[in-house]
Amino acid sequence: MNGLDLDRIPQHVAIIMDGNGRWANNKGQDRVFGHLNGVESVREAVRTAGKLGIKYLTLYAFSTENWSRPMEEVNALMDLLLRTLVSESKDLFDNGVKLQTIGDLSGLPQNCVDSLNEAISNSPDNHKLVLTLALNYSSKWEITSAVKALMGSGISSEEVDADSIAKNLATAGMPDPELMIRTSGEHRISNFMLWQLAYAEFHFSSVLWPDFREEHFIAAIADYQNRDRRFGGVSQQKNQ
Ligand code: IPE
Ligand code: IPE
Ligand code: MG
Repeated sequence: MNGLDLDRIPQHVAIIMDGNGRWANNKGQDRVFGHLNGVESVREAVRTAGKLGIKYLTLYAFSTENWSRPMEEVNALMDLLLRTLVSESKDLFDNGVKLQTIGDLSGLPQNCVDSLNEAISNSPDNHKLVLTLALNYSSKWEITSAVKALMGSGISSEEVDADSIAKNLATAGMPDPELMIRTSGEHRISNFMLWQLAYAEFHFSSVLWPDFREEHFIAAIADYQNRDRRFGGVSQQKNQ
């Protein structure tokens, strides 16, 4: 139907949704207009992930470093988060989407935290997709928090291993993403899931986030399906 091998759909896809500001500037509008139009792309990405049978979709929505933006833009982003949660919660629930977050929620405005908690507590029991919003998130924050938690737990240095670290990350219990997509033509990960992306495949799309549609998502998965994942070993593919 879409040319994809349905037996090799990644379980977990992480997306750095980038390019809202440039999309708006290209149209002679202010950056916030780009963020507003990015919401439809989020909706479509969630819908497409559900359709394809992806189990985990993680979206980088606001980084620790994004606080350095002009106050009006930050306020508009927080306001948009709030309004989107209110307007989309029911739809997420009806479509079997469980909402969760990673990031330091204590840094967000209280009304956003309240809305998030409400949407999260209304998540369906029988979910088919886990949607994780990375909010006030950065990998360095996450890894620092994990180190603090480990040290506070009284664990001995001999007991510290990759597993105990992973269990103290915000993503504990989730599989690592097999695929990371970044839009807008930037080739960097901007403090996103440094640990979890250790063996992920990266797909960089030149499309700006508000223009990112199902066809682009499918193209990213097709690209992923053409990769030869070796994990430090040797190719499992024939004739290599
Ligand atoms: C991504 O788009 C949205 C957030 C980071 C919240 P940008 O706002 O970074 O847009 P560009 O990259 O400046 O075009
Ligand atoms: C990464 O995008 C953060 C999010 C998409 C939320 P940025 O636009 O903040 O990243 P840089 O500044 O280009 O690295
Ligand atoms: Mg950007």
